[in-house]
Amino acid sequence: MIPILIDTDPGIDDALALLLAWGSSELTVGAITTVAGNVPVDVATTNVLRLLALRRPDPAPVVGEGAPAPLARALLTASGYHGEDGLADLTDWPEPARPAVLLDAISLIVDAARRLQRTLTIVALGPLTNLALALKADAEALSLVGRVVAMGGAVDVPGNVTPEAEFNFHVDPEAAHRVLAAGLSLDLVPLDATRQAVLPRSGMRSALGRAPGHLATRIQAFSERGFRIDHAGGAQGLVLHDPLALAVAVDPTLAEWEWAHLAIGPDGETLRGTGRPNCRVARRVDTDRFLRFFLDRLCPAS
Ligand code: BDR
Ligand code: CA
Repeated sequence: MIPILIDTDPGIDDALALLLAWGSSELTVGAITTVAGNVPVDVATTNVLRLLALRRPDPAPVVGEGAPAPLARALLTASGYHGEDGLADLTDWPEPARPAVLLDAISLIVDAARRLQRTLTIVALGPLTNLALALKADAEALSLVGRVVAMGGAVDVPGNVTPEAEFNFHVDPEAAHRVLAAGLSLDLVPLDATRQAVLPRSGMRSALGRAPGHLATRIQAFSERGFRIDHAGGAQGLVLHDPLALAVAVDPTLAEWEWAHLAIGPDGETLRGTGRPNCRVARRVDTDRFLRFFLDRLCPAS
């Protein structure tokens, strides 16, 4: 079992990544921390609580709320894609139960790093603000972590926010810079890889059709917005950015990897540099195997 902490800003594809994590018996998802990105951080926390109430994973992870804004600039959200509420603006989510006290994400990350050390994998699915703040709080604790897998960047392909920058790195370039410079054991999953992780509508429909029920109906409802927008943008289905990062955290052989030295430009561009590698970058994805992996685990039959 791999102990894992997921840092996230749900987000349609973040939600699919969380469901994939809860369907993966190799993982123990001990903690989920939220960060401002696709939506403001309190909305991201509400969405994690909604998804926990929907899926009821056992054991239930602890939840911590993190940074409300990037390190050095104003928050830019992605509500045009994910909806104002981050999960496609469905009107009928039940109000989720809120814990009496919300934990602090940065303390949760540092505590998990100290307690679990090399056994811990951190999967970061949003801007890297929380990780950068955890590094600032206790860099030594973070240096003990076995593996950090982060979705972000556009290395040799165009960005999805500016011609060169990907959303997570564009929202908080200072945080991305600090994480890349920290000497962590970092596996980066950029758009170069995630644009190969495209799920056709028919694949989603037949997987959900094999497990009919409330969970399947809900997944269908909130992911439909992503399918519609990605199709309009020319993709052949839904681009599974964050689920791919989660999948390679479980099974790194789903992608081929390249050691690289990357730097972050002023708008969050991912620039190739020279010098010792500071991360491994996911390159070619075994798309068929990844899609089977994802669909087999997304929605267990009830
Ligand atoms: C990333 O941006 C967000 O909108 C997605 O959730 C994903 O983490 C892709 O660029
Ligand atoms: Ca995300």
